[in-house]
Parts: sequence; structure tokens; C-alpha cells
Amino acid sequence: MSNNVVVVGAQWGDEGKGRIIDLLTPSVDAVVRYQGGANAGHTVVIGDTKTILHLVPSGVLHSGCLCMIGNGVVLDPDVLIDEIEGLHSQGYLKDPRMLAISRNAHLVMPYHRQIDKLREEKLGSARIGTTGRGIGPTYEDKAARQGIRFGDMLDEAVFKRRLEQVLPEKNRLIEILGGHPVDMNALMAEADGWRKRLSHHAADTSLLLDKYISSGNKVLFEGAQGTVLDIDHGTYPFVTSSNTIAGSACCGSGVGPTVIDDVLGIVKAYTTRVGEGPFPTEEKGRIGEELQLKGKEFGATTGRKRRCGWFDSVILKYAKRVNGLTMLAVTKLDVLTGIDPLRICVGYELDGVRIDHLPSSGDDLKRCEPVYEDMPGWREDISSVRKFEALPKTTQNYVNRIREIAGIPVSIISVGYERSAHIMLKNPFS
Ligand code: IMP
Repeated sequence: MSNNVVVVGAQWGDEGKGRIIDLLTPSVDAVVRYQGGANAGHTVVIGDTKTILHLVPSGVLHSGCLCMIGNGVVLDPDVLIDEIEGLHSQGYLKDPRMLAISRNAHLVMPYHRQIDKLREEKLGSARIGTTGRGIGPTYEDKAARQGIRFGDMLDEAVFKRRLEQVLPEKNRLIEILGGHPVDMNALMAEADGWRKRLSHHAADTSLLLDKYISSGNKVLFEGAQGTVLDIDHGTYPFVTSSNTIAGSACCGSGVGPTVIDDVLGIVKAYTTRVGEGPFPTEEKGRIGEELQLKGKEFGATTGRKRRCGWFDSVILKYAKRVNGLTMLAVTKLDVLTGIDPLRICVGYELDGVRIDHLPSSGDDLKRCEPVYEDMPGWREDISSVRKFEALPKTTQNYVNRIREIAGIPVSIISVGYERSAHIMLKNPFS
């Protein structure tokens, strides 16, 4: 039994982390987001209602769970306020004390969003394909000690002083990039609104977490994006600007690594990627289209079509290594129904040489050709199956092959969009 589990994406994001976290929330006392920002879009479907969460942890759809936004998250106050209002209108988050926001989380300011978009335009065909949510420029400022933290914004005088220090330089950059400088007074006025709506959520989340953990409460650490989008360990430069791997849970929430009991990696039964960058198992033809359509593979934040392809076990083994995965959840297995044969990438060929690890250079990865193993598919509708043994034998074999490649158990399988459409083999918390 584990008390503290990190949930991470083991591919390029969009693995279905939101629904798995929603599923596990009744077993925990708190859920903590620790990195990324409103570039994430965690989707949970309950009945006919689809909720997309960008900043608020995916535990929010269960009352009684404390949701925390840790210091490692970059926080766009406008997006957060809209999200909180949306949740209120759906009857969630009735008790404001159940959302605690770290005073040390850095703010995504309107100039960050503008710089992000202008840079992408300038890059043209060399663009990263960012979500345009200002994520990179905010993390840049954090590292350059030019950032404005949530706690700074709460004190009007401190906020003004910080803005006076950083805004002139930001505006010069915006002008160089061809944009419109941001007006200091307008920003001060906007911040009045943020302060009124958000100040009661401010907390020392590291301290709060410590109290929770030391009194034996169970905590789920919610990762955003995915392993190969990690700023250090991903397919640089086609990555996001935070560390997305499990180790980031500690830095981004203020706990030590010794409190983490398990790391649950989420993998989709096939692979998707939004934005630019190498993707060895991408299928540009009929299969890619079929996966995109059947899996409704559109970005939850930008609405962009996701690129689709076969399951890649090189990426899975890499994710196991850099995250220290101890268990897996396999999502969207139902999307593969009717595709026969199924292919699993078991290695790459790089300049004629067979390799079974992810090359550290993005240029090398671009030249990698996938080596596939074919497996028979299935035609039966599996969306109402709730026991592993009741799945068709070929479906069981496909999951077992993923388990065998990873060398760790599969704890959860999702077989449909709706909350109940899953097979729980072993709840990590019980
Ligand atoms: P950024 O995080 O907006 O700077 O975008 C950098 C790259 O990460 C782009 O390729 C985005 O499409 C990708 N990305 C960022 N957030 C997500 C996510 O939540 N899911 C999938 N891809 C993402």
C-alpha cells in the first residue's frame, strides 16, 4: 500500500492523466499539481459532461479532497479565475478552503503570453508549436530571477515594485518582436481583480503538505504534459519549459524524494503528439487518421489535431528509467478495437544500426526508423468490460506485451471515455 504516489505521463502528454487521477481521488486526501501551467488540459467525463481542467488539480471533482497548486506551477490568473467560476457553476469547489495555491508559484503575465506567440510567429517553420499560453517566457523569467510570484501579486506595493523592475525590459522585447507594449496601469488594475478573486486561496503549500503527509494522509502528485516533453529529458528543443518527470514532483511541491512511495506512469495504448518535433512511430496515412478520429485526438487546450501513431516501447522503457516508474495505467485501449494487425515499436534503426534506447540527440531521433512487432487485433466492443479476464484473449495479449516490455505491473486500464469505463487491477493506494 502506498501513501504518496506521483502520476506522470509516460509519452508526449495527453495520455489521459486527468481521468486516471479522477479515478484515484476517492482513495486520497489531497491532490497536488507541481509543474506546467494552463498548457495542460486534463479531461474528465462524467455522464454527458466533459470537464477540462487547465490549472486546478483533477481531484476537484470529488468533494473532500484538498487540491493544491504547488510552487512549480506557472499560474495564469485569468485562466484560473475562469476555471474556478466554471467549476462553481457546475457545483464543484463549494468550499474555497479546498483549493490552496502556493504563494511561490510564478505568474503568467499578459506579456508572457504575447512574447510566446510573437516568438512562434517569428520562428515560422522552425516553430515549437507551443500552446501560446506563455509557459516558456514565464519559466525563463523564473530562472532569470525576473518573475513575479503569486505572493508578490497579493501585496499591491510589492507587485508595483516588481513590475517597475521588469516591465520596461519586457516591453522592449515585445517591441523588437513587433508586438504591443503592455501598459503598467492597466496591469495594476487587472491585478486588483486577481487579488480580490484569488487571495483567499494563498497558502504555504509545502508546509501544508508536510502536515498532511506526516499525519498519514494520502497524497497524489499530479504531473502535467509527458516524459518526452521534459525540458531536460525530452526531445529538445521540441519540449515544454518545465521538468515533467516524476522527480519534479518534489521540487514543484516542496517535499523530499523519500516521501514518494510509487510512481504511476500513464500510457495511451498508442502514441500521440501535439506540436512539432520528432515522432518515430507517427502514421501519416489511414491508420493515423483512424486513431485520430476514433480517439477524438484533438488538443484539450488548443483544439489542434494530435498527430497519431503506434505504441512505442522505446519511449516506454525510457519513461520507466527517467521517472522510476513502478506501475502503469494503459488508457484508451478501446480505440484500437477493429485495427488488425496492431503494431508495437520494439526498437529503432539509426543509420542502419539497431538500437533499443532513445537517442539523446533530437537530430538522431529524427533519423530513427521504427522496428515493429505485429500482434493480432480484436473486433469485440470492450467498452463495457470491467474485468481483465473478460477481455478478448488478443486484447489481454496486447496489454500483457506492454507489461512485459515495461517489466512493471499494469494497475489500471481504461476502455472508454466515461468515468466508469475502466478495469482496476490494483489501486495503488489500497
Ligand atoms: P508549451 O508548453 O506551450 O511551451 O508548448 C511546448 C510543446 O509542448 C508543444 O509541442 C506543445 O504542443 C506541447 N505541450 C504543452 N502542453 C502540453 C500538454 O498538456 N499536452 C500535450 N502537449 C503539450
